[in-house]
Amino acid sequence: MTGKALGNTTAQSLLNIAAGPVCARKEAALEIITKLAPGEGLKMNKMPGHWVLARLGKRVLRPGGMNLTRRMLEALRIQHRDDVVEFAPGMGITARLTLRSKPASYTAVERDQAAAKTVATYLTGERQQCVVGNASDTGLPDQSATVVYGEAMLTMQTEETKRQIVGEAHRLLKIGGRYGIHEMCLMSDNLDEKERRETERALTGVVHHGVRPLAVSEWRSLLESEGFEVRSVAMATMSLLEPGRLIRDEGMLGALRFVWNLLRDSEARRRVLEMRATFRRHRKQLGAVAITGSKR
Ligand SMILES: C[S@@+](CC[C@H](N)C(=O)[O-])C[C@H]1O[C@@H](n2cnc3c(N)ncnc32)[C@H](O)[C@@H]1O
Repeated sequence: MTGKALGNTTAQSLLNIAAGPVCARKEAALEIITKLAPGEGLKMNKMPGHWVLARLGKRVLRPGGMNLTRRMLEALRIQHRDDVVEFAPGMGITARLTLRSKPASYTAVERDQAAAKTVATYLTGERQQCVVGNASDTGLPDQSATVVYGEAMLTMQTEETKRQIVGEAHRLLKIGGRYGIHEMCLMSDNLDEKERRETERALTGVVHHGVRPLAVSEWRSLLESEGFEVRSVAMATMSLLEPGRLIRDEGMLGALRFVWNLLRDSEARRRVLEMRATFRRHRKQLGAVAITGSKR
């Protein structure tokens, strides 16, 4: 495996903090939070949109919010005997929900080192790890998982990489294993090519990475063509930055912290308002979808 497993070092640092005097603890905690912030070293005006949001304290970075995440997890039915792989856990919010089901093992594969360190702080069990690596080529053994899922991580990929990642999920799963995705979608199957390209260009322009949502039928076809039988499809509005969704996803305190941070950083505020305006402008075309399937 090319990736690096994280877990004990960060957990140990946090334990050391817990043991020290209050002041030292505060400073060390701040240091760790700063070190763990993804997007470190990038200028705010160039940073991928999800890391702008994460640095402002937003933890839920997927288009359909926690409600659609819960629906995906319900359909995946994770149990004690499951070996779970999560692609791109980000700030580890779904990881924490999954761990409540006490699966036999949990492995996360996250490309961003700082995000991976954050996820590792939640992993205290023996067969739990977060690997810094690429979901298109994880290096994990064939048929080593019974559940694989990933949220808000395929939409940003090219067509070829989407296929590689779905193919990698298929390789990792045992026959009958379950795969779940939660992604942005186009609301119409018949969006003309010009309108589609304009929507992609507008979104890419504000989030500063590729944004290539598919229509629900195209997401389904992608899974089917890579060897999955689709089992469930659920949809939600794409309201990532709307006040109601912000409160539902982050809680009142989390939402207030986000707004407070926004007020103190004019460049971050500009980025967030620009993203929200673009999402609103394209709201008729955009939605969120969670699809689960089983390996044929
Ligand atoms: C929009 S965030 C979503 C994070 C989290 N899944 C969530 O829904 O809150 C995208 C995440 O995908 C990760 N990512 C993107 N491409 C990846 C890849 N090929 N392999 C692993 N992680 C990837 C990024 O580092 C980031 O953590």
